[in-house]
Amino acid sequence: MMTAHPWRPYVLLVLAISIPLLLFESLFSHLIFVNRARPRIKRFAELPLRFRYDGTFKILQVADMHFGNGKATRCKDVLDSEFEWCSDLNTTRFLRRMIEAERPDLIAFTGDNIFGPSATDAAESLFRAFAPAMESMIPWAAILGNHDQESSMNREELMSLVSLMDYSVSQVNPPSAGGTMRIEGFGNYHIKVHGAPGSGLDNTSILNLYFLDSGDRVVVSGRKTYGWIRESQLNWVHSISQQSQLQVESQSLSPALAFFHIPIPEVRDLWFKKIKGTFQEYVACSFVNSGVLNTLVSMRDVKAVFFGHDHLNDFCGELNHISVCYGGGFGYHAYGRAGWPRRARVIKAELRKGSKTWMGIQNILTWKRIDDERLTKIDDQVLWSHADDEEEDSSHSQKDV
Ligand SMILES: *[C@@H]1O[C@H](CO)[C@@H](O)[C@H](O)[C@H]1NC(C)=O
Ligand SMILES: *[C@@H]1O[C@H](CO)[C@@H](O)[C@H](O)[C@H]1NC(C)=O
Repeated sequence: MMTAHPWRPYVLLVLAISIPLLLFESLFSHLIFVNRARPRIKRFAELPLRFRYDGTFKILQVADMHFGNGKATRCKDVLDSEFEWCSDLNTTRFLRRMIEAERPDLIAFTGDNIFGPSATDAAESLFRAFAPAMESMIPWAAILGNHDQESSMNREELMSLVSLMDYSVSQVNPPSAGGTMRIEGFGNYHIKVHGAPGSGLDNTSILNLYFLDSGDRVVVSGRKTYGWIRESQLNWVHSISQQSQLQVESQSLSPALAFFHIPIPEVRDLWFKKIKGTFQEYVACSFVNSGVLNTLVSMRDVKAVFFGHDHLNDFCGELNHISVCYGGGFGYHAYGRAGWPRRARVIKAELRKGSKTWMGIQNILTWKRIDDERLTKIDDQVLWSHADDEEEDSSHSQKDV
């Protein structure tokens, strides 16, 4: 035996030395090689979020990435000439370019982040889908759509994982909801945006962001339909809004924005009204109207609502003095229309200049960028202006007189 394999003792010797070395390296390398250290705890975003010194706060809305497995997942609805070299990596590239072009203060992913049926491993797909956000170190928030859970994880697991990812400010549900108040769904949370540093509003949330879970699919009286925002969620968001308004000393409310995935039934009425953007697809929502619009109107602070779900709609319209906007389809593995570029929405809030410092919010603006060579900016518009509310207030007081 020994003569047949004269190399054997040497191999054994090499193994005897290298195995403990490898073990040692894998166990202690994080102590020795500082630059290779990979702490396994979450990297936290700095909270609270706040306006910049220049008096602005910018949000990038990413609707319907529909991420699958990455490189091997082909694009849908692109031109025949584009098909061969198009995959999920184009979605990743578009996200990187959008982040670079806009440098937002927050990225809001409004659901169908992954497309379950095409994602072999949900966790892996989520990590890939959100990678550009994590790499950018910009705080980001995500909620679920109706396709995220169609892979290897349920909605609660998905939201838990999303809340634990680097720089994510997402939450499964508010901590207070653990007690007497049970909220339906997963991914209902409130993000505060404080005033500019040194403005005197450093410790005040002057822009509130409400994220809500609009569910997936449900069977109601034997009929299949999409999910909707439930009463427990509406009660919660209403109470949060009342609380935050009590904390604001000045008379004018801190405006709020709401984000969810599935549009509300009233969006259909906009077919007959003035809109900015494209309305080229039927509004696919639940046939149950749970009174989301009425609740948002009664809260008084919500000035605009952002959702996704219908990839071929990207318009903003107005319902009862609240702006309602689609993000427009973002992902390349999501259905779309060949020749109608993928797109993303940007939302920007600007502060009012006082005599010495920044005051509350002056304007809420929005625009979109399409994924062409120059990321062309389109449909710039003002969604809300401080002056609008003053007019409303004065018309109320005139009526009172
Ligand atoms: C996808 O990305 C590749 C290179 O990264 C590019 O050549 C191709 O044009 C992109 N396809 C589309 C439809 O944007
Ligand atoms: C905000 O809170 C910090 C810490 O409690 C305090 O030092 C600071 O003075 C507060 N700023 C304002 C404008 O109230």
